[in-house]
Amino acid sequence: MISAEPPALSDIGPLFALDGHEDVGGAFSAIQARHRGFNDRYLGYPVASDEFPRSFALAPDVFYNNIGHAGSPHPGFQHAMEAEAAVLGWLADLVGIPDGDWWGHLTTGGSGGNLAGIRRGRHLLPDAVLLHSAAAHYSVARTADDLRIPAVSVPTLPDEQMDLKAFDAAVARLIAERGGERPAVIVVATLGTTRTEALDDLSGIRAVLDKHGISRRYVHVDAALAGIPLACDGRFTMDGSDSVAVSGYKFIGVPTACGLVLGRRVGPDTTRHIPYIGTVDSTGVRDGRPALMLYESIARHGRTGHRARALHSRVLADHLVTGLQRLGVEAWRQRTGYFTVVMTGLPEAIHKKWFLGPNGDGRHRALLVPGRERRHVDAFLTDLAAIKRLPGPKPAVAAEKPAPVIRGNPFAAFAYGGALPVGAPALVPAQRRGGRSW
Ligand SMILES: Cc1ncc(COP(=O)(O)O)c(C=O)c1O
Repeated sequence: MISAEPPALSDIGPLFALDGHEDVGGAFSAIQARHRGFNDRYLGYPVASDEFPRSFALAPDVFYNNIGHAGSPHPGFQHAMEAEAAVLGWLADLVGIPDGDWWGHLTTGGSGGNLAGIRRGRHLLPDAVLLHSAAAHYSVARTADDLRIPAVSVPTLPDEQMDLKAFDAAVARLIAERGGERPAVIVVATLGTTRTEALDDLSGIRAVLDKHGISRRYVHVDAALAGIPLACDGRFTMDGSDSVAVSGYKFIGVPTACGLVLGRRVGPDTTRHIPYIGTVDSTGVRDGRPALMLYESIARHGRTGHRARALHSRVLADHLVTGLQRLGVEAWRQRTGYFTVVMTGLPEAIHKKWFLGPNGDGRHRALLVPGRERRHVDAFLTDLAAIKRLPGPKPAVAAEKPAPVIRGNPFAAFAYGGALPVGAPALVPAQRRGGRSW
């Protein structure tokens, strides 16, 4: 059961006053109670909430200082760099970058990964123009602005995928503006847009660049939400792209801000040895604990288990779409997506109560990332049915269980009618060394 209205916890600011009368324990209890009280209704944002039983048990008073490179950590053994190297190596395997041929590091999240990828592109192609779709995450345009890279926003199709005809026209325009000379370009493609989870067409983007003879190119893929499930399903490999950013807290559910950036090693190594930290570095300090949690998640679930988690979300998203349509609400999800349900014309009382993300066009979205279960969706639908004076969803027949940890064929456990490639071999998490943090 979803708890009824949580207690009035939204106004706890005064408990945090630093006025000489602090009650740290009381303030912490209040903020924790607020988080828990509202969590069951937090449907609009992609923060998975699976467990990390071992890494939670790691001494919480220890700071793992992952400054340096995956292959060249800071001296003193206060780091968790082996875990960072292992998860980057696993991701490199998954997206088809050969062993030892990658660079990468932990980031603070999707935006940090986009910054690192675009920065690398800028190092390689200092005169580049950056092209991204109008549906790209705002961090892309902001990074272009911060790095003073001229940027072009390319229109999208109605589902938010980059419009390749418009992309073609934008590239042609850049060439015409230069009197026929080919520009250097950084393209940021999105796999899983923030509002509808649309996938840009990587091979279509490549074909347009080929057609125009653009050889000085760098393609960064923003796959913050959907990159890992897509790669686990064999639907995303780097093939022609140079770097990718994925989030650690959106799908995997590491309970702290984190992500990974990973790239193919091309061009010169721009990292420098910093004498006073005793190693090479390009990021400054990184918290090693998220690497341990990512490591645990990959070790527990493996590729097949993560496919099963994503499939669980898909099934739930379909359940929500069907339930909404039964209640007369226009609802939709990308057939290529996993998590995102877009809905039109919801009563304000409902989208406010359930914290559904506004899409800015009168539509709202729910994100059914792992940790969201049938009980959440049914409670939401029951609420909506009550407002519309219609019958709510039928109770689930069997007691609901969370997405299981599976190391076999996930499709044996879930009925799904969509067109996913089946039978891709499970990858054994591989410890990779020698990665760099350019
Ligand atoms: C496609 C995409 N890229 C990047 C980000 C930014 O991620 P973060 O908030 O972790 O910086 C998001 C966040 O919603 C996103 O949806």
